[in-house]
Amino acid sequence: MKKLRTLALATAITMLIAVFVLISAAARTGNADDFDSAATYKGKCVACHGAAAEKRFDATLADADLVQMVLMGKKAEKPPNMPGYEEKGITEDQAKALVAYMKSIKK
Ligand code: HEC
Repeated sequence: MKKLRTLALATAITMLIAVFVLISAAARTGNADDFDSAATYKGKCVACHGAAAEKRFDATLADADLVQMVLMGKKAEKPPNMPGYEEKGITEDQAKALVAYMKSIKK
């Protein structure tokens, strides 16, 4: 009986550790290091800005301003407006990476 209880406890502990490992692995994907700006751009931005960031993107503006526009959005002269992405979970580092990516694909 004692052996069985020890075995059950060991199993429970092993499962707990496995759950922790999975959770921390999932949390890590939120880091800027793992952020895939190309995939994010293709998923969220390409429809309005084009495959080579040729639309509605003035690469001569200062990076800091461009980053703010990604985070806070921007009202265009006529719709569609630029949505603010901070409330959608984009961090400042990720916005910087997106702006850098847009500059890199713009011809
Ligand atoms: C619904 C269409 C739409 C989507 C989706 C969109 N944008 Fe925009 N974006 C705009 C518009 C409109 C502007 C403002 C252009 C202007 O000043 O007239 C803009 C402006 C910008 C600017 C500032 C550049 C400038 O010249 O004003 C940046 C940087 C930018 N967007 C990045 C992004 C990124 C990164 C994403 C994806 C995460 C994204 N946009 C998604 C429509 C969009």
